[in-house]
Amino acid sequence: MAPTDRRIDKLIHVLVANGTVVVPGPKIAAEVGVTRKTVWEWIEKLRELGVEIKGHHATGYQLESIPDILAPSLLRSELAGLEIGHRIVHYFQADSTNSIAMELAAQGAAHGTVVVAEEQTAGRGRFGRTWYSEKSSGIYASIVLRPSLPPAAAPILTLVAGLAVHESVSGVSGLATDIRWPNDLMVNGKKVAGILTEMSAELDRLHALVVGIGINVNHRQMPPELEQIATSLRIEGGRVYPRAKVLVALLKEVEKLYQLLLAEGNDAIASRWEAASSFARGKHVRVRTSSDQFVAVTTGLDRSGALRLCREDGREELLVAGEVVEVK
Ligand code: BTN
Repeated sequence: MAPTDRRIDKLIHVLVANGTVVVPGPKIAAEVGVTRKTVWEWIEKLRELGVEIKGHHATGYQLESIPDILAPSLLRSELAGLEIGHRIVHYFQADSTNSIAMELAAQGAAHGTVVVAEEQTAGRGRFGRTWYSEKSSGIYASIVLRPSLPPAAAPILTLVAGLAVHESVSGVSGLATDIRWPNDLMVNGKKVAGILTEMSAELDRLHALVVGIGINVNHRQMPPELEQIATSLRIEGGRVYPRAKVLVALLKEVEKLYQLLLAEGNDAIASRWEAASSFARGKHVRVRTSSDQFVAVTTGLDRSGALRLCREDGREELLVAGEVVEVK
C-alpha cells in the first residue's frame, strides 16, 4: 500500500478550484502533469470513493458537489500555521494508520505529521481488538507527537487527544458527547470514537508518541456484533457530517490543548477532562484490568491522568491502565 500520489491530490485540487464548472480533460492533464488516460483512470477511482463527478474525457469533467475526501490539498489551507497537520500523508487504503505513523516516526517524521486513510484493512483498537474502518465513512488518523517529556507523560497526552475529539465532535455535530475513561467518545451511551496511543521510548525519554484516532462519522449502520455498543454521528444525528470539517476541527483542538499542556501542565488538562466526562466522579463502573475485574465508584482524575476509584469494600485505588463500563 502506497500513499496517495501527489498528482491525484493535485487533480482533486484542480476540480475543487474550478467549483462546479466543466474542466476539459486536456486542461486537467496539463495542470496535473499526466496523460489524459491517467486523468480518466483517476477520475474513475475517485468515483468509486463516492466523489460525484459528471462527464467523461470527451466533454470534460465537472464536480457535482464538494467531495468529502480527506485529501491534503483540501485540508491544507484550513491548517495553515499549525504544527499539527503541517504534513499530511494520505492513503486511499492503508492497513493501519498507526502502523504507518510508527514507521514514519522511526524514520524521523517530524512532530505534527498526520497519517490519514479513507479506509483501513487492519485497523487496530485497544487490547488487541480490531477497529471497524469502513471506506469513506469514518476518520482514521494517526498523529506523530514528539514532546520533550518523559514516557510517564503518555497518559496525559492521550487525554489531550480524547478531549480534542470531544471538543471537535461536539462542536461540529452539535450532539451531546461524553468521554468514558480513558478516551472513548460516547453519544447516547454508545461509542463513536476511540484512541490507540503507541510510543517508542527509552526509560527516561519519549522518542515519539503516535496517537491514533478513529471516529465513526457517516456509517449508515454498525455491523451486528457492534450495534449494541457502538454508533456513528450519522446514526445519532440523522444527517451526514463533512468528515474534512471534523478532521480539521480535531487537529486544531489537538494543537490548542497540546500547547495548553506544555504551557500550564497536567492540571489544566485533568480539570477540563473532569468537566467534560460524566465518568469522572460518582459513576458506578465495572473495571477490567489485565489481571482483575471488579466494581467501583469513580472519584476523580489524578493529575497524571489515572482514574481514582473507590471499591465496594471502601478501598481506594488508582486505575492507570484498563477499561471501565457503566453499571446501570
Ligand atoms: C479503541 O480501541 O478504542 C481505539 C481505536 C483506535 C482506532 C484508530 S483508527 C486510526 C488509528 N489506526 C489504527 O489502526 N487504530 C487507530
